[in-house]
Amino acid sequence: MLRTVFFTALALSTSLAWAAPDGKALYTTWCAGCHGVKGLGDGPDAAYYDSKPSSLAAPTYKRGTTDKAVLKVITKGLPGTPMDAFGDKLDEAQRGALVDYLKVLRGEKP
Ligand code: HEC
Repeated sequence: MLRTVFFTALALSTSLAWAAPDGKALYTTWCAGCHGVKGLGDGPDAAYYDSKPSSLAAPTYKRGTTDKAVLKVITKGLPGTPMDAFGDKLDEAQRGALVDYLKVLRGEKP
């Protein structure tokens, strides 16, 4: 009986750990190609586009740096620019983790 409780708790804690999306990994996969690993707007794909990817390491963004403003850009994209909408590719928790990781790139969080 105790064994069952222990293993259930273990399974639960590992699945919780897995459930928290890793903002840095998501950024590397979905964003760094254009925005660059450090967010400087110098990713390898940036050269293919006329409009230059914004620096996400800048202290302020054109569309604002509130969580709401950043989440909106990530979710809806910027029509007419290469900046895609990620609302249908990434779930809410993943987009939230990206909003948080951009704070690291801006130097607001360690
Ligand atoms: C195909 C290239 C490309 C990819 C991939 C891409 N972006 Fe962008 N992004 C851009 C471009 C280009 C702009 C600037 C558009 C403009 O202002 O003309 C931009 C703008 C932004 C802005 C607004 C910055 C400002 O100054 O207002 C944010 C925030 C942003 N991107 C976040 C992300 C995140 C997070 C990801 C990954 C989920 C991502 N982008 C993936 C090209 C890209």
